[in-house]
Amino acid sequence: MQPIGETVVLGIETSCDETAAAVVARSPDGRGRIVANVVRSQWEQHRPYGGVVPEIAARAHVECLDVLVAEAMGQAGLSYGDLSGVAGAAGPGLIGGLMVGVTTAKAIALVHQLPFFAINHLEAHALTVGLTDAVAPPYLLLLVSGGHTQLVDVEDIGVYRRLGTTIDDALGEAFDKTAKLLGLDQPGGPHVERCAKRGRANRFSLPRPMAGRPEPNFSFAGLKTALRHQAMAAAPLTDQDVADLCAAFECAVSDSVVDRCRRALRLVAENRPSTPLRLVVAGGVAANGRLRESLEALAARVGAEFHAPPLRYCTDNAAMIALAGAERLAAGFTDGLGVAARPRWPLDAAAAAARPVHVPGRKGAKA
Ligand code: KG4
Ligand code: ZN
Repeated sequence: MQPIGETVVLGIETSCDETAAAVVARSPDGRGRIVANVVRSQWEQHRPYGGVVPEIAARAHVECLDVLVAEAMGQAGLSYGDLSGVAGAAGPGLIGGLMVGVTTAKAIALVHQLPFFAINHLEAHALTVGLTDAVAPPYLLLLVSGGHTQLVDVEDIGVYRRLGTTIDDALGEAFDKTAKLLGLDQPGGPHVERCAKRGRANRFSLPRPMAGRPEPNFSFAGLKTALRHQAMAAAPLTDQDVADLCAAFECAVSDSVVDRCRRALRLVAENRPSTPLRLVVAGGVAANGRLRESLEALAARVGAEFHAPPLRYCTDNAAMIALAGAERLAAGFTDGLGVAARPRWPLDAAAAAARPVHVPGRKGAKA
């Protein structure tokens, strides 16, 4: 039986190549509880093309979303009348897939006369620790996914100030491209991590992009190029070469990200000297063990709390979408059924694009 005052929200996630449905309960004191969680990866359908094909993704969402929603509701043991609302990821992401999820969420809301919530996928990642670690803002968020790499000061739910972003590739994209270059499967992150475990991080020397720069921005394109040069010089690559390159890449990435987070933590401490320092990591790359350990060590060094969601809630899922819906409901917001899906939807709309760093003597060079 549902506790008194608890709200229960169905969440739907279809922004990229994972189709997901989940049911989350939120108690009046703000605690979240995952009641049901179903995720289906479409990767097998995209594999022949070596990357996510938007048209195939949209069609694959259509084919299985209703089954997954029914499965989540079955796991929860609830009927639609028991729900307090329905939340759908409305952006950013691939527009075809977003439209499938948003239309489905709206249809369920309309038929069962429930509130509908159009959720920002990045906000959902940002709030995931509230669900798994019962952590509430303010905190510094490192958001590292396939399409985004940002440092965000999460002042409150709905109040996000971007401190830094990538000037070229997202971190997940850098992992995926590295995997492709080394002949590993996609999505690349978990495969690079698995190989890196067998590798020696100090055999190849790679740059630590942006280290020491005052603005906590990121850059991974130069690192990727440096890795390609080292790989070409060592070709043909043995399994051990690939493992060593993966370890060197993970190590360079962790050092660079830790340096950028240290800088952002200092900015947050200056802006809010009276609140405890907290570092939260979210998004698919937050599943990376070496990165988690490095961030935890950084937090310990500077006296900050550190929180990372369990691995399965780092990568795309619908529990985070449902939780964001429950938070919007608690704050008294709902969205009209006229709200459309949007491929671009920044977390901090006021933040300007990060400019490439110019290295003297090199035209248009990136650090
Ligand atoms: O958040 P997410 O599931 O989807 C997006 O919103 O983009 O992130 C997917 C990204 C992919 O680039 C994937 O390679 C990366 O997260 N990823 C990892 C790991 N698991 C997933 N990267 C490094 N190490 C991992 N263990
Ligand atoms: Zn994501």
